[in-house]
Amino acid sequence: MRGMAYFCFLSATIYALAGMAMGIFMAASHDHSLLTVHAHLNLVGWVSMAIYGLFYHGVPTVAATRLARTHVAVATTGLWIFIPGIALAVLDITEGPAILGSLLTILGMLLFTVRVATARLKPA
Ligand code: HEM
Ligand code: HEM
Repeated sequence: MRGMAYFCFLSATIYALAGMAMGIFMAASHDHSLLTVHAHLNLVGWVSMAIYGLFYHGVPTVAATRLARTHVAVATTGLWIFIPGIALAVLDITEGPAILGSLLTILGMLLFTVRVATARLKPA
């Protein structure tokens, strides 16, 4: 078991690779119509997931809890629905997945907020 921080960091780097590849594709094709997909893949995927990883790395006792596992599971599921959902919404196909994905994404942040608020952190 490599732990929650490893999972968060590894997923974050994969989202960064996908987001940057998409950025290069947008730049090369001069087609920026899916800019919002690129922005949120990088910011909710790479940046937010890396911050979760940093927190769980810094507070390993909290990383092993069920609340932490639930938080990361909800955040990951949310992202995997949210990102393609934004593309479907921008392309005017359907808004359903973007709505569901965004609600799961904010639920994930709420669970993280509870995890942070109830953690016993040593004073620096
Ligand atoms: C290889 C790396 C990257 C490339 C080639 C790239 C390329 C692009 C391109 C072509 C746009 C569209 C610009 C426009 O239409 O105004 C864009 C927008 C954006 N990118 Fe990237 N990007 C890269 C990495 C990143 C990363 C790592 C992040 C965040 C951590 C990021 C965040 C954003 C944001 C927030 C926007 C929207 C900016 C706005 O609202 O105008 N990008 N990127
Ligand atoms: C539940 C989560 C979120 C929802 C529903 C959401 C929704 C949106 C919407 C509707 C836009 C306007 C898009 C447009 O004008 O076409 C937007 C833009 C933007 N959001 Fe988010 N957002 C979320 C999370 C975040 C987070 C966590 C970040 C940063 C860490 C972020 C950064 C940005 C940026 C930089 C833009 C401007 C670039 C763009 O148009 O894509 N968002 N967001």
